[in-house]
Amino acid sequence: MRYIIGNWKANLDLAEVDNFCQEWAAAVPSGKTVALAVPCVFYAYLATRKIGFTPILQDISIFGENGARTGEITVENLRGIEPPFVLVGHSERRRDFGETNEVVLTKAKNLIKAKIAPIICFDLEQMEELAASLKEFSPESYLLAYEPVDAIGTGKNLNGELLQAQFKLIRQVFAPGTKILYGGSVTAENVAEYHEVSDGVLVGGASLKPQEFTQIVERA
Ligand code: PGA
Repeated sequence: MRYIIGNWKANLDLAEVDNFCQEWAAAVPSGKTVALAVPCVFYAYLATRKIGFTPILQDISIFGENGARTGEITVENLRGIEPPFVLVGHSERRRDFGETNEVVLTKAKNLIKAKIAPIICFDLEQMEELAASLKEFSPESYLLAYEPVDAIGTGKNLNGELLQAQFKLIRQVFAPGTKILYGGSVTAENVAEYHEVSDGVLVGGASLKPQEFTQIVERA
């Protein structure tokens, strides 16, 4: 299975979401899973429409249980909705909200216990700690997304020998069978580069453009 996960981040308004859905033309081939991490205000709206991609969430509260947590969305809130995946640990959360591995792992574990697969984003410096903490879980219960910070939103996607070497290293550190995506300036032009090394891609900016994201789905 190849995973093509888009991440809209804090972009688009309702009219733009509708435009995206109208222009979205990808017929998702078997063997590929396509999901878009949307701002949570659009989640229910998109989940009730037959749009050809699966909406997912970009983050989750560190508090696993419902309660007096104004502004938070907990894992318990997701009961009955159950998106297949939720992103956690995106570098923008780590950078702008001070999220540590401890926070990221708490969120990931709450999701795993609720049988929702976290897509855990990391750069190399977080790798060893994540691998050690994830040992208690089956690699089928989560996905990883290797996102070199310098490649995110910069147009400087990792490629060539360095890409191969980093993935080799990463696969030695995490349990065999772990699904590992690549993210960072993935476009329709460069997505084929990730075919051999990774199990899919996490796409930011290019996932906002329906025609380009359609091409990415076809080529990934
Ligand atoms: P980008 O973002 O594709 O715009 O570089 C990737 C990400 O933030 O996951």
